[in-house]
Amino acid sequence: MHSVTRPLIAPSVLAADFARLGEEVQAVARAGADWIHLDVMDGHFVPNISFGPQVVKALRPYSTLPFDVHLMIEPADPYLEAFAKAGADHILIHIEAGPHAHRSLQHIRALGAKPGIVLCPATPPEAVSEILDMVDVILVMSVNPGFGGQKFLTSQLPKIRRLREMITATGRDIRLAVDGGIDPKTAPLAVEAGADVLIAGSAIYAQPDYAAAIDALRSPVTA
Ligand code: DX5
Ligand code: ZN
Repeated sequence: MHSVTRPLIAPSVLAADFARLGEEVQAVARAGADWIHLDVMDGHFVPNISFGPQVVKALRPYSTLPFDVHLMIEPADPYLEAFAKAGADHILIHIEAGPHAHRSLQHIRALGAKPGIVLCPATPPEAVSEILDMVDVILVMSVNPGFGGQKFLTSQLPKIRRLREMITATGRDIRLAVDGGIDPKTAPLAVEAGADVLIAGSAIYAQPDYAAAIDALRSPVTA
């Protein structure tokens, strides 16, 4: 079995109070978050609109934690530099968002950020087999992207398992993140399948005590 016992927790600010975003970032950082997950939506690749690089830049002074920027935008290429300059540490693009993921990942690396690739529920793990050597993060969507608060798709667990095998075969240090419907019940399923980063919006920001919510996502994991 996969040996990671303590997953990294990345709260998604999509479920935070947007009128107090800076404080909300500080609050989860104090509560033990490992990364801050920022969901960028364009109303085109996904049927919702969230925020752009200005907001990432405005939040940058509020935390030294890695900013994990999930781009649900098509095309992504014209905006990569703006997100890198805004302070994104990781820039994740969707494999479904254009024909030239290889070029985009090269560009992200050249901008000094860590490149990541995201797979929607309908996309097979093999879709990223030719670019594994270019990424530092692989993100499996366990809901259809666009909204928080959806139900975890257990159909994605075999894909997580397969990607963990593919990562191990590379011998490279690649994080495997899962995003969507993560809560204290689904978190152990994702970790057991091989995930080492859990992204969670409502399971953290909709709870009264962020530290307890973060602990609850980590604690059920067995060795
Ligand atoms: C969905 C986003 C997720 C979302 C997760 O498109 O990528 O990051 O905010 O929200 P929950 O944890 O509520 O499913
Ligand atoms: Zn996300």
